[in-house]
Amino acid sequence: MGKLTVNDIDVRDRRVLMRVDYNVPMEEKDGQMVINDATRIKETLPTLRLLVKNGAKIILMAHLGRPDGKKEPTMSLRPVAAKVAEMLGAPVAFLDETIGERVISYSKSMKAGDIVLLENVRFHAEEEANDAGFAEKLADLADIYVNDAFGAAHRAHASTAGVAEAMRKRGGQRAAGLLMERELRFLGDELDKPARPFVVILGGAKVSDKIKVIDRLLEKADTILIGGAMAYTFKLALGLQIGKSLVEPDKVDVANSALEKAKQRGVTFLIPTDNIIADPVATGKLNKKGRPVMDLQNPRTNTEPNIPPQSEGVDIGPATAQTYRDAVLKAKTILWNGPMGIFEDPRFAEGTNVVAGAVVEATQKNGAKSIIGGGDSVKALNKAKLGDQVTFMSTGGGASLEFLEGIELPGVAALSDK
Ligand code: 3PG
Ligand code: MG
Repeated sequence: MGKLTVNDIDVRDRRVLMRVDYNVPMEEKDGQMVINDATRIKETLPTLRLLVKNGAKIILMAHLGRPDGKKEPTMSLRPVAAKVAEMLGAPVAFLDETIGERVISYSKSMKAGDIVLLENVRFHAEEEANDAGFAEKLADLADIYVNDAFGAAHRAHASTAGVAEAMRKRGGQRAAGLLMERELRFLGDELDKPARPFVVILGGAKVSDKIKVIDRLLEKADTILIGGAMAYTFKLALGLQIGKSLVEPDKVDVANSALEKAKQRGVTFLIPTDNIIADPVATGKLNKKGRPVMDLQNPRTNTEPNIPPQSEGVDIGPATAQTYRDAVLKAKTILWNGPMGIFEDPRFAEGTNVVAGAVVEATQKNGAKSIIGGGDSVKALNKAKLGDQVTFMSTGGGASLEFLEGIELPGVAALSDK
């Protein structure tokens, strides 16, 4: 990696302002906010341990949720500070402010190895506006800036971009943390020169979310396997009937050009040949967003190319799952992004689970390198308790997608070159 990392810098007795992505899923239980998945915290522990060992004074900065520039008690990072302390096995202080005199004087009172977490940086509207004055105030808190927040690196915000620029102007170093470095290595370098065959599995709801990724991977992959609702847009492009399946009719031309490009480049590009389908029936209830809640009734396997008019595709079928499994087992490099069906419903999780099992088997038995591009595929692997049996799981959702599209992430661009 061409960027400076925490391994390259001397942090002894210096104040290090470290951006982390502690945007963790939380839930209210008995009036308290409880963390449902602490993966993002766990993944920052190696950087924290290194900085503590090297005698840094560590000031952690993060966002939680989307409070839109206002103080929102349910989005306070206080419970996160307690969780970091518990997982690290060392005290982590919390300040209910992000900038200002009190924070500055606190930072100056810190000793080597001390850690403090600041309040949600998004309680200030200036954060998302990447306000230069606010970024200067963040830079006032420290001598060195470290970014370990890969998951937020696609945002050009004050805590990810502006503060680094402010540090640069002051002659301060801006280094990547160990998690950031790992993410960039696995999603970047490792996929630039993959061992072959390189098999890509793409799922999720929309072609529009993934089109740039598909386009870019068509230049690198040997095989691309398509699942999830975006498969129905490809089916439509092939002139097939898709019933009530989720689909983007205006993306049919995009799907067609992907199919064309695959042909030209000799990439094996597979879409499902069979599906699990079900019949959506209105329950008469509305969800939080005011949309009708549908019940998916009469689940069954559809081996026909066409999906019946009253039915919706909800998973890949068993024959497709077997074909995808065989392809994955031949791979030396695997990239997986997006589930094969509505895996949250156990009736429609089989396709995703078969793929997950194949990815794990290829990794464990065949020595394939497996890289999981964040979001729902990580959730699916964790749900199946297989998360520790793949080579790498990204902590980024939107960030990993944008990075795989080949976009330079603002949070990465802002770091010092080596
Ligand atoms: C995420 O969880 O996607 C990142 O932390 C970024 O959060 P955001 O999507 O609210 O910017
Ligand atoms: Mg996001």
